[in-house]
Amino acid sequence: MGSEDVVIDPWGSAQSTDYSRIIEQFGLSSMDDVHLPSPSRLHRRGIVFAHRDLEQVLDAQRQGDSFGVLTGLMPSGQMHMGHSMVIDQVKWFQQLGGDVTIAVADLESQATRGVSLEKGRKVALEEYIAHYAALGIDPEKTNVYFQSSRPVVQRLGFQLGKRTNLNELEAIYGFSGETNLAHVQAPLVQVGDILHPQTDEYGGLRPIVVPVGVDQDPHLRLTRGLASKTNWFNVNDGKTSGVLIGLSVQDDNADVLGQLPNGRMDRERLNSVFSGIVSSLEHLGFSDIQSNPKQGTVLVPSATPKDKSKIRMKLLEYERSLGGMGLLAPSSTYHHFAVGLTGEKMSSSKPKTTLFLRDDLATVEKKIKRAFSGGQATIEEHRRLGGNPDIDVAYRYMMYFFEDDDAYLQRVNADYRAGKILAGEMKQLCIDRATAWLGDLHEMRDQTAHLVEDFLAEDAR
Ligand code: TRP
Repeated sequence: MGSEDVVIDPWGSAQSTDYSRIIEQFGLSSMDDVHLPSPSRLHRRGIVFAHRDLEQVLDAQRQGDSFGVLTGLMPSGQMHMGHSMVIDQVKWFQQLGGDVTIAVADLESQATRGVSLEKGRKVALEEYIAHYAALGIDPEKTNVYFQSSRPVVQRLGFQLGKRTNLNELEAIYGFSGETNLAHVQAPLVQVGDILHPQTDEYGGLRPIVVPVGVDQDPHLRLTRGLASKTNWFNVNDGKTSGVLIGLSVQDDNADVLGQLPNGRMDRERLNSVFSGIVSSLEHLGFSDIQSNPKQGTVLVPSATPKDKSKIRMKLLEYERSLGGMGLLAPSSTYHHFAVGLTGEKMSSSKPKTTLFLRDDLATVEKKIKRAFSGGQATIEEHRRLGGNPDIDVAYRYMMYFFEDDDAYLQRVNADYRAGKILAGEMKQLCIDRATAWLGDLHEMRDQTAHLVEDFLAEDAR
């Protein structure tokens, strides 16, 4: 690893905000050329800045096919404004028609933070789910479960563990010989979290999107890699054109795919698998399909790269009909971290850096008054040189959390730069909006408290 490389540690306190470098280094796609239906505030303002395979989800949405949203929460500490960004996106996807699954990472919290399962449950419900309800997540279309009480999640983690090893975990997470094994298992359980909504028991094959902060991307890279490794059929661009499908023969599918233990082929089996592939593709409307069982490939000359995702879906269905897991790599979106009130990183362990959703309004006011400012040292200088909204926390919090009106925000931005709005005035604008927003939230929380139970899946009650 070069010294220039960004290292992302999902459990660490360091946080890179070099977002263009992160996009490049980890192969994320920029949101710039994605066309979203009714973009939310976080989208319009470029705060959701990157994704992996989001088109797969948007295609499903456009075609009226089902898709799911998954997020997880670590039940430790208090919920703060930073956490609300993921919930904003979950709500947005839910309004577009996605079904929502929420993992309470009680096993991870126990393994990495020493929180007992009992305490984890209490914190999850009273602190997190109570606020999700207040923030407008619809309990009728949401399923909350606990890692510790959903066997399929742990089973998937265990099964897929077979497809990775300590070297890969070391490369992704920086684990070493001293790493506690509970810590090694936590990411595999998270793989189970992310993939299990596709199982037949939990909704069946459909695209699943996971909105996260960039710190969680290592888990998505691991999950996507493991899901792809289990696939029986690989879908690639053809050499010159078209889409090329190849067979991935593995221990657990060799007999189904017609590979005899002595290394020879069961022709009939193989041919029947290939006619299955062809008829799956014909269902999509392709007709010029070139099936080549001997080489183990099928070419669809008229297919374009854009067709790959629907081809992949069809083949996963077919794989399932043959007894495979048929796992689709998850999609994800990434948002910028909100800066801490003090200008450093936002962190629950440093209350001065953030607004907790339970902070009373007097505390909110006090914290914002002390926030890092982009104003000049004196009023005279500020009037002359103008302030810098890009680093002004009060402005940024309105942009990230509290102000919906884009035109208003733009005016405030321009007036601050022009020195017409003073730093103290900017803070007051933010205080007005933050206290109104949090005041409303507190009221909603009282009104929706009785809904918390309705969020829980059968196995979480
Ligand atoms: N690891 C996440 C955190 O630290 C919690 C989590 C568990 C999660 N499972 C997940 C997040 C699945 C997204 C998707 O907050």
